[in-house]
Amino acid sequence: METFQSASALIAARKPEKPIIGLRPHAAGRAARWFLSHFQGDVAYAYKANSTPFLIGALYGAGIRHFDVASLPELEDAKTIPDATFHFMHPVKSRHAIRRAFLLGCRSFSLDSEDELKKIVDETGGATDLSLWVRIAVPAINAIIPLENKFGITGAAAVRLLMKTRQAAKSLGISFHVGSQTVTPEAYGAALGAARKLIGRAGVVIDGIDVGGGFPARYSIDPPAPLADFMTVIREGFAALPVSGECKLMCEPGRALVAESESLIVRVDARRGNDLYINDGSYGMLFDAAHLGFAFPVRLVGRQVRDPNAIAPFEFWGPTCDSIDHMKGPFMLPASVREGDYIEIGNTGAYARAIAGKFNGFGFYEEVILKDEPIFTMYGDDAATHVQRTPALA
Ligand SMILES: Cc1ncc(COP(=O)(O)O)c(C=O)c1O
Repeated sequence: METFQSASALIAARKPEKPIIGLRPHAAGRAARWFLSHFQGDVAYAYKANSTPFLIGALYGAGIRHFDVASLPELEDAKTIPDATFHFMHPVKSRHAIRRAFLLGCRSFSLDSEDELKKIVDETGGATDLSLWVRIAVPAINAIIPLENKFGITGAAAVRLLMKTRQAAKSLGISFHVGSQTVTPEAYGAALGAARKLIGRAGVVIDGIDVGGGFPARYSIDPPAPLADFMTVIREGFAALPVSGECKLMCEPGRALVAESESLIVRVDARRGNDLYINDGSYGMLFDAAHLGFAFPVRLVGRQVRDPNAIAPFEFWGPTCDSIDHMKGPFMLPASVREGDYIEIGNTGAYARAIAGKFNGFGFYEEVILKDEPIFTMYGDDAATHVQRTPALA
């Protein structure tokens, strides 16, 4: 793969026809090292967020050895990673998927119903070496993508399931997910509080607590709370649980580990007022911008503008015929942006390429390595306060 100092250097060297994914494996490595040194437990990377080998290699090189997989295809894809421990954390799995995962050496499964427990016990032949995680539903607080409606068990049913699962598990854990892109840490405190009550009511020994993913990436001038604050809340909530010193902690970050490790570089094919028609969109890597309102950070690359302070808000339209293919932004760019310009859309490393499809013949990307820093980072020396005032300028 070709390497460039920056997206600007790439565009100065050539004018690509297809959208380009600019990989920054160093950013994934930095995020992984941060989590491994600040989180007091196992850090399981949520494989679904981005499974491109360059980034998996960077995470692995930084020391990540645990992987949260959410499907059998993900596990099949990841199974050759040496010395890896896999956790199959989708609470609803087919019987075939459980059986095959067990054959591949996976011993860690999540569940949120007695039916799923029975499936796991049946399909693993009543194995005595399983780690089983009961997923509880917890409220989403300040999460951009709440996840509490689809999975998770609560109340008396959760107490019953914990007691039943205890009989089948070598290691019994509680897991939850506070929702993706949770920008303040209270949700983790509330979720650990809910776990505390359930453990008290069930009266069972708990061997593990999995606080899930949900840790934020930085997409705008207003940063989320510093990741260190999340660690503090988790440490305090965990310390208050009625568990022994043997109980292990785990987390499953996806977004926070890889968001900064890719940019999307697009070309402006038309400008109509402040609407820019670009060569990727909601059916490609900008699903989150179209459907969840993510205003990814942007900068014009490969051209110097005369007045760098003249910045204006723009909306994006993708290349397909569909009017859903619209990213409202606002994306702040030099007011003089014009047809033929290239724009770097930053911090698209989480979920964007994983979701991209090929509707209308689009969805093909070139890839390059970029050596410079992402537009925004959660992991700089001054990560807590870092503000880049001119994100629109390369
Ligand atoms: C079970 C589970 N774990 C981890 C993740 C990763 O979440 P995030 O990318 O918000 O860290 C998800 C995302 O949907 C998930 O469903």
